[in-house]
Amino acid sequence: MRTAFASVGALQEALREERYLADRGLATAIYLAVSLDKPLLLEGEAGVGKTEVAKVLASLLGRELIRLQCYEGIDAAQALYEWNYSRQLIAVRAMQDASSETHVADLFGPEFLVERPLLAAIRAGSRAVLLVDELDRADDEFEAFLLEILSEFAVTIPEVGRIAAEEPPVVVVTSNRTRELHDALKRRCLYHWIDHPSLEREVEIVRARAPEVSEHLARDVAAAVMRLRAMDIAKRPGVAETIDWANAVAFLGVERLDAETAAATLGTVLKDHEDQELAVSRIAEVVEGGDG
Ligand SMILES: Nc1ncnc2c1ncn2[C@@H]1O[C@H](COP(=O)(O)OP(=O)(O)O)[C@@H](O)[C@H]1O
Ligand SMILES: [Mg+2]
Repeated sequence: MRTAFASVGALQEALREERYLADRGLATAIYLAVSLDKPLLLEGEAGVGKTEVAKVLASLLGRELIRLQCYEGIDAAQALYEWNYSRQLIAVRAMQDASSETHVADLFGPEFLVERPLLAAIRAGSRAVLLVDELDRADDEFEAFLLEILSEFAVTIPEVGRIAAEEPPVVVVTSNRTRELHDALKRRCLYHWIDHPSLEREVEIVRARAPEVSEHLARDVAAAVMRLRAMDIAKRPGVAETIDWANAVAFLGVERLDAETAAATLGTVLKDHEDQELAVSRIAEVVEGGDG
């Protein structure tokens, strides 16, 4: 069992020093995942701070962050390794020269192997934090393949042999839940759902990430974003948008969020035309919330 952090509280404090504010539940999940060598599966809407967990964790542990960004159609070759065909081709051409020292078998040697994130993570082992980002974008087949890798942390490359991690890396898997992940993968992981932060917490996050923004303004903006999230919009803004919005308004030299400024700067927080139209039509409600 690793003892990277003395306690959940100590981890929470260390995260805060990295300007990441985690509630007790999330800090406990991270603490257990790291201590018990289990992948951490983080689910939640876009912008709630899932990816950031892996980045901050790598920095806290002094480890390399290896990121596998998932997308539709991603397959094992793109995630694990491929052969460098163009380099092989050049080598084949060179072999036609009688004085060449290269043999066919050499074409499948380490210098022609293109390492992708999963192979890099297997090789780095406990020197890395592996981030498998937005796994819900990949298909079922890839998820099954990933599960295999997460169970073994080893791969057999026919031409090279077996490569295994001495110790597994810390693994963070994220999903925006555009589809449900499989139970088998969930069983392998420690699961934590991240919600949008509470108003108080989001104010704190803005203050931590954008120290130039006053407490008042941070509160105005965080409250406005909360009201936007409660409206019937297509793309609910994440924490990054709250920070961007607060920064933009502060940069304009405005001290409190008023309807006019809010409407003029909506592009920092809503990135959908219909959402913007809806927000503009109810802008008084967005900035005032009807509660003064
Ligand atoms: N709890 C938090 N503490 C500090 N910053 C946060 C927190 N949650 C989100 N953020 C900010 O929001 C940004 C977006 O978070 P990110 O991890 O990319 O979201 P997700 O991966 O869930 O879509 C981060 O870069 C960070 O600046
Ligand atoms: Mg993300």
